[in-house]
Amino acid sequence: MSKTLIVYYSWSGHTAALANKIRQLTQADTYEIQVPADTFSTDMYETSDIAKAQLATGELPPLSRPLPELARYDLILVGGPVWSGAPATPVLSFLATADTGPAVLAPFYTHAGTAGDYEAAFRQAAGARPLATGLGLSGSSISDSAPQIQQWLDQL
Ligand SMILES: Cc1cc2nc3c(=O)[nH]c(=O)nc-3n(C[C@H](O)[C@H](O)[C@H](O)COP(=O)(O)O)c2cc1C
Repeated sequence: MSKTLIVYYSWSGHTAALANKIRQLTQADTYEIQVPADTFSTDMYETSDIAKAQLATGELPPLSRPLPELARYDLILVGGPVWSGAPATPVLSFLATADTGPAVLAPFYTHAGTAGDYEAAFRQAAGARPLATGLGLSGSSISDSAPQIQQWLDQL
């Protein structure tokens, strides 16, 4: 049986709520991506500017918590919010630094209506890693989405 890890970053709680639903449905282990507390602002527009500067300079934020032992998992569900149509930079930090070995990665993400090219950008950041289909949900619809989440999990 496959051993699953849920990895997620959440700036304002929606992706955390989705990760929590997934955890309830799978009983999988969970790792929350965190970055140093002063990395972003509490303001969305300032945070967006900071993230854009990180992308422009290539200076992605460091992860502030040690990674779990990733070699123990063969399926890693990687979640985050959509920022400017792409994965939030802490998710990119995870993909840039984590050695996920042969594990299959499956992206999940929350947005406010415009997911943009999230999955394409995730694929690019994931490089040669094996990937599964993603799940994108509006941040406001998570409490009503249990069937959709279950359907996604079933086909993984
Ligand atoms: C910096 C920033 C950029 C965002 N860009 C987008 C976007 O391009 N499209 C969209 O639909 N929502 C965008 N949002 C909204 C979030 O994706 C959405 O609220 C998401 O559910 C938040 O997840 P979180 O609570 O886990 O951080 C953005 C939010 C922030 C803070």
